[in-house]
Amino acid sequence: MSNKIQSLSGYIHEYQKSVNEPEKFWARIAESFHWQKPWDNVLSWDKEGPHVKWFENAKLNITENIFERHLFTHGDKAAIIWEPNDPSEANRIISYRELFELTCQFSNAMQAQGVQKGDRVIIYMPMIPEAAVAMLACARIGAVHSVVFAGFSSSALADRIIDCEAKMVLTSDGNFRGAKNIPVKAVVDEALEKTSTVERVIVCKRTDAEVTMTPDRDFWWHDVIKEESAIHAAESLDAEDLLFILYTSGSTGKPKGVVHSTAGYLVYTQYSFENVFQYNQNDVYWCTADIGWITGHSYIIYGPLLSGATTLMFEGVPTYPHPGRFWEIVDKYRVNQFYTSPTAIRALQAKGLEPIAPFKLDSLKVIGSVGEPINEEAWHWYHDHIGKGNCPLVDTWWQTETGGIMISPLAGITPNKPAHASLPLPGIQPIIVDAEGNELKGNNVEGNLCIKFPWPSMLRTTYGDHKRFKETYFSAYPGMYFTGDGAKRDHDGYIRILGRVDDVINVSGHRMGTAEVENAINEHPRVVEAAVVGFPHDIKGQGIYAYVICDEEGITQEVLIDEIKNTVRKIIGPIAKPDEIQVVSGLPKTRSGKIMRRILRKVASKDISNLGDTSTLLNPEIIDEIIRGAQVS
Ligand code: WT7
Repeated sequence: MSNKIQSLSGYIHEYQKSVNEPEKFWARIAESFHWQKPWDNVLSWDKEGPHVKWFENAKLNITENIFERHLFTHGDKAAIIWEPNDPSEANRIISYRELFELTCQFSNAMQAQGVQKGDRVIIYMPMIPEAAVAMLACARIGAVHSVVFAGFSSSALADRIIDCEAKMVLTSDGNFRGAKNIPVKAVVDEALEKTSTVERVIVCKRTDAEVTMTPDRDFWWHDVIKEESAIHAAESLDAEDLLFILYTSGSTGKPKGVVHSTAGYLVYTQYSFENVFQYNQNDVYWCTADIGWITGHSYIIYGPLLSGATTLMFEGVPTYPHPGRFWEIVDKYRVNQFYTSPTAIRALQAKGLEPIAPFKLDSLKVIGSVGEPINEEAWHWYHDHIGKGNCPLVDTWWQTETGGIMISPLAGITPNKPAHASLPLPGIQPIIVDAEGNELKGNNVEGNLCIKFPWPSMLRTTYGDHKRFKETYFSAYPGMYFTGDGAKRDHDGYIRILGRVDDVINVSGHRMGTAEVENAINEHPRVVEAAVVGFPHDIKGQGIYAYVICDEEGITQEVLIDEIKNTVRKIIGPIAKPDEIQVVSGLPKTRSGKIMRRILRKVASKDISNLGDTSTLLNPEIIDEIIRGAQVS
């Protein structure tokens, strides 16, 4: 039974029901899944904890809902179409039945290697089908996966391994990305020098790069599956058992482990996938994200596979071997729904129309955007040149923490409005509040975006630190989930996301905490103090701008700046490397010692027309120096 909304009036009707009787609404949606044991209670919500439980005491396995539930009707249907980095290499088309067998076989292998229900398993892999198999096998045996984007450095990987006390790491020899051949296993080896919990490393062969295998710890993927059967009985999990941990940056401290549990995540990712993209059974769907991010979890793997969809997985990058690669792939597989980021759109827009010209793109029915605000220019370019003016564009707002798409048009149902995430999905109750937490009702209002009622795929905690969970999300406005984003409801009641209101920068759709980048910069022995802010960037949305006080004796500024950039790359990864570093003799500070970031943001944005009140500064004279150094004209 499908829960697909068919019309605007259908949406309005469903939305009303979901707000008036949320439990009844979600119980009806959840009925279409396979439960080993039904729930006793749809929702329990303790605002104080805060603790949320959905489908309490139900038993299930998410992979039974992907495989066993679909095998009779579409065992032979393509589950994953895998397109390699190099178009001259053979692709792989994996049916539901084959993916099921691969998952079962690897589930048996992981269990034989000692992984048990509840154990944490790190997945540090390129975009290859085995990465999907790895996630699904963890889910099948009840191990908790934590995928770490394979572009992160060894020290970022080590931090995550330590935080979740991982028992196993699944990885590959190397990673083909564009013209690069990136070592992967070597990064794992370096990380494991700093950690103590990992007992086994399973290495999937991809690039034939030379790797060092530590005896009794490291095993080849193809060896561990060799003797294993392709039949496996799924573990029975509780609705609230952990499905995965995914680390994400916040405004303070180290990245936190966002925890998602089983049943609510299953129900919501499937429901939102089917409705936002209006997926039909013979469609080919492609999301260009990496499985290292939540978009890859919810809308390459779980949402589509739970819907019995064909999901395309692309190993490479948009510009390799030519800037028309995305469009070539769309034509090659007759892709119907295409989902990407504003950064990718802007980068391809900058290449002009020539790379698009050879391709028809006539299979496209829906195009989507995610990860950062999409500016109107990029929206129109995407709509006109990729969607050819006749594909609904879904600008989907959500977060690692929300698990699934929260505010978005439903393709072809919600009238499109450029750069507006538009309207909430059924079950989602966003509100806009002022600084004091008063709800700003009605239209034409602007403030901070909160969600006032739980939804099934909401994060349950931050791993190992429930206090941090409460402080981060539920203390700004008690009893409500605070998103960290600013938003506006316009005269039509459509929501437009304005971007982060906290110390989080959104670089190419990737979240970076300013504190996290500052800490990395501070690791350079010559750095005394650093302050990091975001600034508008034509392609990336936001760039990273660092002001540093350092000891410059006997070293040129050029070399120093290069070294600092490299330090950040080593500690976090290339995505966190500052675009601009300005050496300063001081930072604007208030009498209480707080850095006045507002001023630093303005200077970095080259907008010094109105610096606001600087009377509380201890050292106002520093502003002139900073402006001069930034060469703002
Ligand atoms: C932050 C969450 C959700 C998957 C990828 C990012 C920003 C996300 C939109 C959008 C404007 C958006 C927000 C949000 N964001 N989608 N459609 N319009 N902003 O997940 O890394 O958890 O980042 O991305 O600022 O808070 P994430």
